[in-house]
Amino acid sequence: MDVRQISNQRKYDLAASSYDFIAYLMSLGQANRLYDELADCFNIPPGATIAELGCGPASVIPSLLKKIPSKTTVIGIDFSEQMIAIANHKKDQYQWDDVHFECMDMYEFAPEKELDAVVFCLALTAIPDSIKALKKAISILKPGGQLLILDSIPLNSRWYHPFANIYMYAKSMIVGAKPNRSILDYITNNLVNVAVKERVFGVYTLISAFKQN
Ligand SMILES: C[S@@+](CC[C@H](N)C(=O)[O-])C[C@H]1O[C@@H](n2cnc3c(N)ncnc32)[C@H](O)[C@@H]1O
Repeated sequence: MDVRQISNQRKYDLAASSYDFIAYLMSLGQANRLYDELADCFNIPPGATIAELGCGPASVIPSLLKKIPSKTTVIGIDFSEQMIAIANHKKDQYQWDDVHFECMDMYEFAPEKELDAVVFCLALTAIPDSIKALKKAISILKPGGQLLILDSIPLNSRWYHPFANIYMYAKSMIVGAKPNRSILDYITNNLVNVAVKERVFGVYTLISAFKQN
């Protein structure tokens, strides 16, 4: 792991116990609604296996479990031990039998078989090299598999986007994220059936895309 990753890992260990509250505040109270909207975008077959990379304290898992077909296997990956400890506590508390959390650097995650879907929820801009992370996600997807992303990506097509972008950059200074437009450009150039929806006046963007067959 490079030095940026190690300091990132320490930062998330420290933030783990207050993460859900911080996410609620920073999303202007919209976090749970955004998680539900992300979960609505799944297009996966019964019996699928999906992974959330940078799952944190399993914040999005309750929304996923409400919307995905039963018997979907969900793997949550995070390199923060504290985040995974909270995620495992929730797993035991709510008896999420088909959900498994693993504490590791996402670049080391090597699933036994290619995945039906990979999710980055508020995680891609938290990773120092988001394009490298995207390439990793695409490499573990099966042909036709789905990539789903919820994150803050600067937009510039509506009159209010400059205001949303100012809020996004201010927020990113507090949480240490790195919003960048190249995420959307990379997806548009390398995946198919790309659907993009802006949320909360463009502060968040929801992207669904598929790996070519
Ligand atoms: C902003 S949190 C997002 C948490 C959760 N997905 C959510 O929706 O709220 C980003 C998470 O990504 C994790 N992360 C960052 N880089 C990672 C890496 N290289 N491997 C695994 N996890 C990573 C951090 O530990 C942190 O828990």
